[in-house]
Amino acid sequence: MKVVAIVGSIRKESFNLKLAQHVQKRYADQFELEILSLRDLPMYDQDIELDAPQAVLDFKAKVKAADAVLWVTPEYNSTISGILGNAIDWMSRVDRVVNGKPSIIMGASMGALGTAKAQMHLRDILFASGLNSPLLPMNEVYVGSAHEKFDAEGNMTDEATITFLDKVIENFQVWMRQYV
Ligand SMILES: Cc1cc2nc3c(=O)[nH]c(=O)nc-3n(C[C@H](O)[C@H](O)[C@H](O)COP(=O)(O)O)c2cc1C
Repeated sequence: MKVVAIVGSIRKESFNLKLAQHVQKRYADQFELEILSLRDLPMYDQDIELDAPQAVLDFKAKVKAADAVLWVTPEYNSTISGILGNAIDWMSRVDRVVNGKPSIIMGASMGALGTAKAQMHLRDILFASGLNSPLLPMNEVYVGSAHEKFDAEGNMTDEATITFLDKVIENFQVWMRQYV
């Protein structure tokens, strides 16, 4: 099984990136997770969507080839980041690469709510016709106080979160089999 992670922060020390890297490492024997960079994606522009830049085509091809998508979202101003919104706009047009593809959402922030508002919006977005991505129900991953949950090397150190994620990932793999 091949999963792509779409991380809505391009910050070098991003907690959301570290969360994606934790999933990549811990479940490496269960599925391959490729973390896609959003750094090289140009701004979405409807004037060029039919002749999109190579960076967009490469990014969308990787998403299309995956069996599932892991969305790892920061919370910016009570919603998803513009970086993530931009990637979503590209994915929602012309070749709709997440159409029918199973998704799971996670998010990390230093606050107590762990991106709850951003995830609420992202769930709605995935329901839009340009996305139409079925989302793992009943498993919501809010990593709050993220600055206390990773060590200096970026490893997740919070045992309760690690155990919780084990269960969520197990649930995701069972649920997503109906789609692949
Ligand atoms: C533009 C901006 C807006 C933010 N708005 C929120 C917010 O609404 N809620 C929140 O919990 N954190 C907010 N934050 C703090 C982010 O959660 C924090 O910077 C987090 O570390 C970003 O994710 P990252 O570590 O993956 O880059 C904001 C940060 C930025 C840069």
